[in-house]
Amino acid sequence: MYVKPHNTMKTKSPLPIYSSQSQLIPDDKLLTQPSDINIKKQFQRNVYIETYGCQMNVSDSELMTGILTQAGHRTVSDIDDADVILLNTCAIRENAETKVINRLEHLNHKKRREGNLIIGVCGCMAQHLRDKILDAAPYVDLVMGPDAYRNLPMALNAVVSGDPFLGLQLDKSEDYADIAPIRKEGIRAWLTIQRGCDKMCTFCIVPFVRGRERSIPLKILTDDVKRLVEEGFKEIVLLGQTVNSYHDGNHDFGELLWSIAEVDGVERVRFTSPHPADATDSMIDAMENCPEVCNQLHLPLQSGSTQVLQRMRRTYTAEQYRELVSKIRDKIPQIAISTDVIVGFCEETEKDFKQTYELMEEIRFDSAFMFKYSDRDGTLANKMLPDDVPEKEKAKRLNEIINLQEKISGEINQSKIGTTVPVLIEGDSRRNADQYHGKTDTFKTTVFPKEETQVGDIVNVKIHSATAHTLIGDIVR
Ligand code: SAH
Ligand code: F3S
Repeated sequence: MYVKPHNTMKTKSPLPIYSSQSQLIPDDKLLTQPSDINIKKQFQRNVYIETYGCQMNVSDSELMTGILTQAGHRTVSDIDDADVILLNTCAIRENAETKVINRLEHLNHKKRREGNLIIGVCGCMAQHLRDKILDAAPYVDLVMGPDAYRNLPMALNAVVSGDPFLGLQLDKSEDYADIAPIRKEGIRAWLTIQRGCDKMCTFCIVPFVRGRERSIPLKILTDDVKRLVEEGFKEIVLLGQTVNSYHDGNHDFGELLWSIAEVDGVERVRFTSPHPADATDSMIDAMENCPEVCNQLHLPLQSGSTQVLQRMRRTYTAEQYRELVSKIRDKIPQIAISTDVIVGFCEETEKDFKQTYELMEEIRFDSAFMFKYSDRDGTLANKMLPDDVPEKEKAKRLNEIINLQEKISGEINQSKIGTTVPVLIEGDSRRNADQYHGKTDTFKTTVFPKEETQVGDIVNVKIHSATAHTLIGDIVR
């Protein structure tokens, strides 16, 4: 274990824990008052944000960039230009946290060399480990969870005094709807439509570190999308922990999909990740009938054993999942479906695992993210169920489904040879500057010679060869 044993939540020095709804003076006011102009100059920071984990964190880093920029700070793309380094972290599996602890040790050397460097840990791991992070890494200046980013500018001023700053209050009313994230240029924009999660799957730390579910009003989101189109984005990816449970009090997820797709200039709409239990007819109807909504669905399965699903509290059976997939495929035959699978969850037997393997064989997902179960402190499974599948057995099971999925993904991609697919061009191919890469409507990476086309165009590509992860072809007119 990388964190020193810790028996008390108290730290050596009394640390303020600020709420993002705090009564403190809003930082923008603080910084725009004439008498404070010198303070602003003095404390204007160059901030480098390093992002770990899922797309939600990428989106949160864009939000943090927006908050910092609004307060007069600058984000930099070269770590050596930074006087503040913020790690936006993940807590989903133990190795995600181990990676950050190792990174912090490395950054500590940099801090010792440079003296004035401020190091912050933000995001899910900050919320999960709280002030214990300071036991493992006492040189950290700032620990801030996902609902406290509004306080970032204030925290940067506060740490100058030498005390670490903790911002760890979860806040169900915090949706950052009024803040404009700052994104890198590109053609795909990630748009957070919902924060938090109310599902409480027993294996999952997310509800504990991201708090209760809350949806951003539809009108705000459609206005955001209008701005994104003006900035040149062509594809909008809606983000939420259970994105399809979206409801703003007046509109459900299906209605939101239609509204986003109707914004002039939006070429493609995707979303991640839906929960199978919230896959309503309204959602399926929008996917079937709205041309901008892509023929792609990431639908986390987790396990093919109903007993395991029950212990995970996933709220559906293997049979219900199977029926949902066939219903969706009946309506949208060309759809590509991907998934998440966990092996070695508490008390998973060889028979349970076989059911997962067989369901994957039967459904034939286009692709899958596959994980060994990682026991997370604070989750329901951690409290109630034994993490009793030996590590070696977890690894063996993971290997088996990875091999199966590689074979299936390869076969599915091979079957595309000879077909012509629409591809939205994203940029130069990594291997060959004479080629572009882009995604099909079904989210398959495709590479092809450039010809007279440019990034942002949608072109028809005839596929002539394929690997398990890439389609290769030529533009046809
Ligand atoms: N609903 C969220 C899920 C976030 S976690 C979303 O996709 O937006 C992403 C995936 O990580 C989960 O679907 C699950 O397969 C996996 N996962 C979550 N907790 C885990 C754990 N404790 N051990 C291993 N894998 C886990
Ligand atoms: Fe985690 Fe389950 Fe929510 S996987 S994010 S608790 S839907």
